[in-house]
Amino acid sequence: MILNGNLPAAVAQAAHALQRGELLGLPTETVYGLAADADNEAAVAAIFAAKGRPSNHPLIVHVADAAAITRFAKEVPLFAQQLIDAFWPGPLTLILPRLPGRVSAATGGQDSVGLRCPAHPVAHSLLQACTQLQPPVWGVAAPSANRFGRVSPTTAAHVQSEFGDDLLVLDGGECAVGIESTIIDCTRGVPVLLRPGAVSRADIERACGLRPLSKDELPAHTPRASGTLLAHYAPDAKVRLMDAKQLQAGLDLLGADAAHLAVYARTPLQMPSAKVQLRRMPDDADAAARELFATLRHFDAAGVRLIWIETPPSTPAWEGVRDRLQRAAAA
Ligand code: TXA
Ligand code: MG
Repeated sequence: MILNGNLPAAVAQAAHALQRGELLGLPTETVYGLAADADNEAAVAAIFAAKGRPSNHPLIVHVADAAAITRFAKEVPLFAQQLIDAFWPGPLTLILPRLPGRVSAATGGQDSVGLRCPAHPVAHSLLQACTQLQPPVWGVAAPSANRFGRVSPTTAAHVQSEFGDDLLVLDGGECAVGIESTIIDCTRGVPVLLRPGAVSRADIERACGLRPLSKDELPAHTPRASGTLLAHYAPDAKVRLMDAKQLQAGLDLLGADAAHLAVYARTPLQMPSAKVQLRRMPDDADAAARELFATLRHFDAAGVRLIWIETPPSTPAWEGVRDRLQRAAAA
């Protein structure tokens, strides 16, 4: 059932559902989450079951404000605090040392916890309402509201198409960012970028004065992150990334036979057949991120078998979109 997230009564109903241990579709500025009380083990188990997600893949815990951090994290390094000051509320998740005894199931038993304070007004109202309950819900675990390995949802209708009408979904409109939060591991003395997103490497460096390392710059053993599995974010159709020249050559080769094919490109191309579904990729990276997952879902719904996508520019602004497309193409 979809509820209008702008109505206070709907937010209150959703908060009580979480308190009772039920699941909820929750809008955030990045993507929709499948939410549950992070301290309720049975509810957290229900998230893993509904997604078909392996239980050793930790969930992000969402909080109403930065003050809530001390309820879950054992310590906050200076650079992490600087990132919180600069980007919360917003599309940035921080991995911090976990306070023993809290949200163990949500973190897959790891000694760290991923914390995020979302900027979406409906998410904020909900998280705030949760802290006012008796007993309060201080943290809301929420992975992206899609079945494991699938494209993340950016509308309430997408969530419903993943989990059916029985799930309560707060409708907060289309997600403004469109790809999942940037994840920074703050447990290694320096910031380590686990997943690129709207908050860029340059943003991180500007805020804390430290250049974020990549996972491959680290010694062995990094925390598991399903957003880092290669074949993730995949639509049903097969995705291929090509530059504009290769794309045009492929189209020319198919000629009038081209069918069941979608093309998503910034560069104008000659279509050999009216049957090819063409969408223009925005020239702006943020705009491209916003519509990326909805575009992949749109092509799937149209029944295409192949999606040919023009490789995004190799500039820093495109890192998040590049990352998601490379994973989609690897599936
Ligand atoms: O934008 C987002 O982050 C969305 C919205 C709903 O907030 N959530 C999201 O959650 O993308 P999910 O579960 O699909 O991705 C969370 C990622 C996973 O790759 C998970 O492994 C990683 O965060 N993660 C969470 N806690 C972690 C921890 N303690 N250590 C390492 N990685 C962690
Ligand atoms: Mg996900």
